[in-house]
Amino acid sequence: TIGNSTNIVWHKCSVEKIDRQELLQQKGSVIWITGLSGSGKSTLACALSRCLHSRGKLTYILDGDNVRHGLNRDLSFKAEDRAENIRRTGEVAKLFADAGVICIASLISPYRRDRDACRALLPDGEFIEVFMDMPLPVCEARDPKGLYKLARAGKIKGFTGIDDPYEPPFNAEIVLQPKGGVCSSPRDMAETVMSYLEEEGYLS
Ligand code: PPS
Repeated sequence: TIGNSTNIVWHKCSVEKIDRQELLQQKGSVIWITGLSGSGKSTLACALSRCLHSRGKLTYILDGDNVRHGLNRDLSFKAEDRAENIRRTGEVAKLFADAGVICIASLISPYRRDRDACRALLPDGEFIEVFMDMPLPVCEARDPKGLYKLARAGKIKGFTGIDDPYEPPFNAEIVLQPKGGVCSSPRDMAETVMSYLEEEGYLS
């Protein structure tokens, strides 16, 4: 029995992940960007996608806000729905990686347990966690969608960082934070991730 399904058998095909990777000349993997609202996750995802694309690498972005417009439109922001949001997105990211694609997931993903469960879906080395370690006051000052303001006014309940938790990762592969109080540009942050990918052999 798998979950609530009984009598199901995995069907294997002779065209496998390794064949698709060979065709695409790249290694399928998941780059998981986590952090507060307004920390720059989506901007980094986009800048990174652009860098990888110009290096001839096929990427696909799974953005929390966007995925919640379709696949996850039935989910709210209470803890169990956030967990389901992350679980489904992790499973989809795994399918993309299996397709040979470099999947960039950018979601708040506030709970460590949910992120670690996504990591556990993938073979070692194929889940790269990027922590946008941006202080709350910086995110709140940016407030690109005006949501912090609404949360402070009590018009949004359970807003991450205000009256809902965010658990920072203990072992993220990459931590991006301001240096001397100055935030790096999206391009520079994307370059930092590109250097990591280069050094770890993801781009060869
Ligand atoms: S989560 O926690 O991973 O399930 O969230 P995610 O799917 O990434 O969606 C985050 C975006 O939803 C908007 N939003 C909220 N965020 C946090 N808490 C509450 N209560 C909330 N309500 C709406 C917000 O625009 C988030 O976008 P980003 O891109 O993170 O700023």
